[in-house]
Amino acid sequence: MKPVTTQMLDAKGEGVKHAAEILRGGGLVAFPTETVYGLGADARNGRAVARIFKAKGRPAFNPLIIHVANLEMAEQIAVFNDDARHLASAFWPGPLTLVLPLQPDAGLSPLVSAGLPSVGIRLPAHATARQLLSKFGGPIAAPSANRSGKISPTTPAHVAAGLSGHIDAILDAGACDVGLESTIIGFDPVPTLLRSGGLPSDAIKACLGTPLASHTPGEAPNAPGQLTSHYAPTAPIRLNATTKRAGEIKLGFGPCDDADLNLSPSGDLVEAAANLFQHLHKLDAQNAPIAVAPIPNTGLGIAINDRLSRAAAPRP
Ligand code: TXA
Ligand code: MG
Repeated sequence: MKPVTTQMLDAKGEGVKHAAEILRGGGLVAFPTETVYGLGADARNGRAVARIFKAKGRPAFNPLIIHVANLEMAEQIAVFNDDARHLASAFWPGPLTLVLPLQPDAGLSPLVSAGLPSVGIRLPAHATARQLLSKFGGPIAAPSANRSGKISPTTPAHVAAGLSGHIDAILDAGACDVGLESTIIGFDPVPTLLRSGGLPSDAIKACLGTPLASHTPGEAPNAPGQLTSHYAPTAPIRLNATTKRAGEIKLGFGPCDDADLNLSPSGDLVEAAANLFQHLHKLDAQNAPIAVAPIPNTGLGIAINDRLSRAAAPRP
């Protein structure tokens, strides 16, 4: 893998401008929010989003939180209900993420929401994050800026220790205030606490005037990435297919003569990740069993195979 030089950008100088340029070019920038440092990419650029998973070494495509500059941008991306609007006006900007139905024409890479019809969205309060979002002018996908399985970073030094050499830049604005990730609320359909975080749930209950439903630990996974059959096309899926059987359509990887769609003809795992959900949706619309070419189980290939095996798992 080609090593990347990670620049340290000072948020007080021209750093924010440079960071926005890097994002526009499809690069990865770690930036401060009031909760923790996020690892940002242009949420509309599938390759850039795929690089987030690669840099984090994430073995699965969990859905990512989208950061927006204002409520208008949020409403272009997500469908708000009355409770969500109420919470947004009370707590945004701030450490609250809302999981809402995705607008059909939101223009996000499907990799952002791991192919789900919902999106996690928030308007951060940190001044540098807000400057970056308004300079960039679009939605930024950002999970916490740590290697997968490690602790969330609250200083530029934490980010550098984990991700130097894997990302393009770190926008340095010192330590984060909250130091704990945002509180996540879903609506299915009642307001539900999906993750406790920087905004106390009592404040949310008081604002809504109703108790919050919560996921009982051990009952059902609240992160959709943990579900076994999570993104399941209607058609059956056959993995590690070196041939195409009668009646099948084929999702290729690498040089492949019989592929109906190819995740990456050149065998590039970043390109393949960026194409995965789009291609699965397109093939699924053809109502035929899908054969999927073998994908190397290294780097991003681990997350791709994880997602494909969930898609191929017996349906509940
Ligand atoms: O404070 C934060 O929220 C930080 C900063 C950078 O904004 N971000 C963060 O992102 O903690 P991350 O990726 O580490 O955590 C995202 C969580 C995951 O547990 C994911 O399952 C959930 O949000 N999530 C995102 N989109 C979702 C969706 N559509 N449905 C359900 N859960 C979702
Ligand atoms: Mg995290």
